[in-house]
Amino acid sequence: MKDSLAIPALTEDLVRVLIDADTINRRVDELARQISADYATSGGNLLVVGVLKGSFIFTADLTRRLSVDHVVDFIALSSYKGDTSGNVRLLMDTRENMEGRNVLIIEDILDSGNTLDYLIRNFKTRNPASVKTAVLLDKPDRHVVPVEIDYIGFTIPDVWVVGYGLDYAEKHRTLPYIAEMYPQA
Ligand code: XMP
Ligand code: MG
Repeated sequence: MKDSLAIPALTEDLVRVLIDADTINRRVDELARQISADYATSGGNLLVVGVLKGSFIFTADLTRRLSVDHVVDFIALSSYKGDTSGNVRLLMDTRENMEGRNVLIIEDILDSGNTLDYLIRNFKTRNPASVKTAVLLDKPDRHVVPVEIDYIGFTIPDVWVVGYGLDYAEKHRTLPYIAEMYPQA
């Protein structure tokens, strides 16, 4: 059987490992404990909404460690690359009804803030009991729209990162670590 613990080497388009798999694993553990404790005291009824595709691994790892009851759903968005107007397009909506539920949005990375700003506003029109956000990575140097984040995994510099769900043109999404990419032409 293939050794599932083998760590793939850096390819030539990657500068360095920014966050290794063990560090991610420990931080996801901490976040899951904190989120579980918070929702245990705020009435449960937790609906976790992962934002596709970038958060699929983070959502899977985090939710499997939650000790509170929860339902997992997904939403798919696309932000127009190179468009700084902040337009976000809804590609696939959630299936669950949010009315009266505690909604936790799981996003891979907070960059300009447009995606989460759009999602929080959109979800609040659906009469949830609450809307909170968890992001694995935050790039504070890139913020344009102020967004309040409840749980942050790591703060990173303004570089393009891939792995653990994040991609460059669909490449590198399933690397077990987060790596910095060389700027692409
Ligand atoms: P905004 O600007 O809406 O952006 O906060 C969030 C989305 O932008 C993508 N993004 C990245 N994806 N590596 C990626 O793979 C990165 O370094 C990166 N920076 C931004 C991502 O889709 C995120 O959901
Ligand atoms: Mg994304």
